[in-house]
Amino acid sequence: MSGQGRQRNGRNEQKQSAGSTQYEALSIQWFPGHMTKARRMIAENMKLVDAVCELLDARIPAASRNPEIDTLCGSKPRLVVLNRSDLADPEITARWREYFRQQGLPVLETDAKSGKGVARFPQAVRTVLRERLAALEAKGQGTRPLRVMILGIPNVGKSTLINRLAGRKAAVAGDRPGVTRGRQWIRIDSGLELLDTPGILWPKFDSQEVGEALALTRAIRPDILDRETLAANFLLRLRTLKPEAVEMRYHVTPDAEKNGYALLEDVGRSRGFLISGGEVDLERTANVLLSEYHEGKLGRISLEAPPEDA
Ligand code: G4P
Repeated sequence: MSGQGRQRNGRNEQKQSAGSTQYEALSIQWFPGHMTKARRMIAENMKLVDAVCELLDARIPAASRNPEIDTLCGSKPRLVVLNRSDLADPEITARWREYFRQQGLPVLETDAKSGKGVARFPQAVRTVLRERLAALEAKGQGTRPLRVMILGIPNVGKSTLINRLAGRKAAVAGDRPGVTRGRQWIRIDSGLELLDTPGILWPKFDSQEVGEALALTRAIRPDILDRETLAANFLLRLRTLKPEAVEMRYHVTPDAEKNGYALLEDVGRSRGFLISGGEVDLERTANVLLSEYHEGKLGRISLEAPPEDA
């Protein structure tokens, strides 16, 4: 989606044009040293747990996956949790569930913020661990608590989920990679314990589209990017994915002939976000569009569909 020409006039035209290299800034949060520390911490904790819960953003289950997750988890039983399901398109989430199921990965959908779906977590973990449970029972160790670690990229909802499961403010929110504290286990029901510190993983930044998806869902701070470019490209995506969302929210039909900036101008004009000379305040429009997507005001919009649907 990069590199499309801008159709902008006056002050808007003077604004700095974003080149395709801007996304290099995204990887700033994850230096190789951070990744090494995170890997080490996860490897240490992996030895202590019976299962892993891989937390993904239901709107971007591919982009929010860590590129090394299979290597990191090895043969450890794994549950995929599609969090923020309240913001994702339910039909697309159902297709993702099937996609992961075909790969042998059971899926739980949650909205950790409201708590929806979270009550099913213990049972879902037990299902993932049924073979392990049977083996422990055969060895006469059936009473040992089963232990789980939550893994995910920053801001996907790990602390919120842990707090929900713990029923109190147990997890310390924080995105610092590789931070190790004294290990504590949270008993979430009889015989099931959760490592109180989630494993923080790095996302992959293998294309501009993935970088944008991470910024739109706030896995990375959107202000790392040129917000107007991000918003303009988002409107191009919406025009394909869900044009009716733009129509419903902003009373504008996304014109098939226009580029992203022109679509952003249309949205800003419709909202009455004007500055001197009757020009549209693109910065304000971009901020409002990005915030409203974050808050779910545009409806439930998934940014990625499973590969076979692409
Ligand atoms: P992390 O530990 O993985 O870094 O993420 P954390 O739990 O801190 O959650 C990051 C933000 O995502 C929090 O919002 C949290 O409320 C929100 N969140 C977590 N799970 C869900 C969910 O299932 N649905 C929705 N809609 N939001 C969720 P925040 O940054 O504190 O503020 P705000 O984004 O709520 O305004």
